[in-house]
Amino acid sequence: MSSTSRPISLGAERAKRDETTTVPKDDPAGAGFPSIRMRRNRRADWSRRLVAESVLTCDDLIWPIFVVDGENVRTPVDSMPGVDRLSVDQAVEAALEAADLNIPAMAVFPYTDPALRDEAGSQAFNPDNLVCQAVRAIKEKVPHIGLICDVALDPYTSHGHDGLLTGDKIDNDRSLEALVRQALVQTEAGADIIAPSDMMDGRVGAIRTALEQAGHTDTQIMSYAAKYASAFYGPFRDATGSTAALKGDKRTYQMDPSNTDEALREVELDVCEGADMVMVKPGLPYLDIVRRVKDTFAMPTFVYQVSGEYAMLMAAAENGWLDGDRVIMESLVAFKRAGADGVLSYFAPQAARLIAQAR
Ligand code: PBG
Repeated sequence: MSSTSRPISLGAERAKRDETTTVPKDDPAGAGFPSIRMRRNRRADWSRRLVAESVLTCDDLIWPIFVVDGENVRTPVDSMPGVDRLSVDQAVEAALEAADLNIPAMAVFPYTDPALRDEAGSQAFNPDNLVCQAVRAIKEKVPHIGLICDVALDPYTSHGHDGLLTGDKIDNDRSLEALVRQALVQTEAGADIIAPSDMMDGRVGAIRTALEQAGHTDTQIMSYAAKYASAFYGPFRDATGSTAALKGDKRTYQMDPSNTDEALREVELDVCEGADMVMVKPGLPYLDIVRRVKDTFAMPTFVYQVSGEYAMLMAAAENGWLDGDRVIMESLVAFKRAGADGVLSYFAPQAARLIAQAR
């Protein structure tokens, strides 16, 4: 406790009251315990429901999926038990499942054949890349589900970085051109929300300008505004096949986990550049950032419960060390309590089922 903070003195308050009122000294009213018993409101399920401040509903969920080449293929991601890479037809099945479960939106990530990865990440702006194929197929069969596409080059580059390299440096401004092209092909395929996760400076503004110029005035941008250089992305990089490719680390563009004021500057810039929604990532270790961002900007604020968070909970649950269903729901409501409007989570379908069962 810092030397300046002073505990509230109930004793002093009580003495003041006793001087000025005629309440008998042994009357406990207003004297704290036992007048006040915090457990009263908690005694029954109906009462706990009534006083609950934060509630997770299906409307808060975004389900990220991984797509892979082929037909009728589901390949497990070893570091994410229960998560498969899906061929496009299976991704459509997943979208039907999401619609059934009342999940409003999905985010689509590709596993790109290593033979197609190059220095320029050119698959990123191939209008027939896996993500675009999946978006078109899902939009045809399940038009009412929201589709989010990540803008970043890492699933497509031979070096595994989100931007382009000039020499051994990530070249911010050259990367912007590629990212804009990627955003445009995704939008033309039918993506509803463009989600730049690359952390290059100026990307939200560049994408917004290009979308407006191309007449895509309704396309939303959810920026990965405060995205940290995190080891919790490990299993995602396995899922997209970029672990093997990645040379070095992403610390020259993703944020230092030590910082919080910097997150506010990042969010402010993205909002000024035309983001409709902002995101904080990872999730549970960064709840303080979620709260600050929500309080400061009052923007639609999302949080990504990333692959490593999923892997930790699943590993413990599979070992019988944690109650899986309960830690899923507890972690998700924590995001709501911190101020998030919604959560990207690989647990989305499971959480939606648990929410439906609880009714
Ligand atoms: C791509 C991207 C990453 C994630 C989302 N988009 C990985 C990274 O930045 O290295 C991570 C998601 C997760 O771990 O679940 N830039």
